[in-house]
Amino acid sequence: MNNKKIKIAVIIGSVSENSFTRKSVKLAIDEIEKNNNFSVDIIDPREFDLPLPGLGIQNESKIRLQKIIGEADAALLATPEYNGSFSSIIKIVIENLGYPSELVGKPIALLGVASGDMGAIKSIEALRGVCAHIGGIVLPNSTSVAHINDKFDSNNNCIDEQTERRIRRVGSDLVKYLNDFNS
Ligand SMILES: Cc1cc2nc3c(=O)[nH]c(=O)nc-3n(C[C@H](O)[C@H](O)[C@H](O)COP(=O)(O)O)c2cc1C
Repeated sequence: MNNKKIKIAVIIGSVSENSFTRKSVKLAIDEIEKNNNFSVDIIDPREFDLPLPGLGIQNESKIRLQKIIGEADAALLATPEYNGSFSSIIKIVIENLGYPSELVGKPIALLGVASGDMGAIKSIEALRGVCAHIGGIVLPNSTSVAHINDKFDSNNNCIDEQTERRIRRVGSDLVKYLNDFNS
């Protein structure tokens, strides 16, 4: 019997102190971790010293990042909406994955959050384009959350049931896809 866990790398696309992207994606991670045959590696860019792309710098952070993604079976990318698109930090993470990318051929789930009325649709669609371009298999369903600043209390608990359900679904849809794929 093969007891090897299915590995999911989760990329947090924000470095802000009280990041709503981080609070949100934790719910999706919790959903994934309900499954014993899955493990999660969190990539928090604050814990990496990633070089700007194009400088040809190969440092410990870049090697560590590529190893984590290279060993992952799938990825979940979570981004805030910044100026009508995904965050620059998530693009820097992607630029550090090599060309061809360590994400080639891997299923990718997307989550976007925004403070505005429109949610993070633009970020998600732009990120979907980038992920498809580099050869990732982007899952059709993604979650965009509008008014994210109103969705958590001061203890970081989500106070909106529907929002929590939609965020958790990003994790459960990815688990379902991978379970179906592996069966
Ligand atoms: C540089 C910057 C640009 C932003 N641009 C948008 C935007 O275009 N649309 C929007 O709805 N919110 C925008 N916001 C608000 C963020 O989406 C919101 O603060 C969100 O919580 C940020 O996620 P984070 O807390 O994980 O960084 C912007 C915030 C920043 C810092």
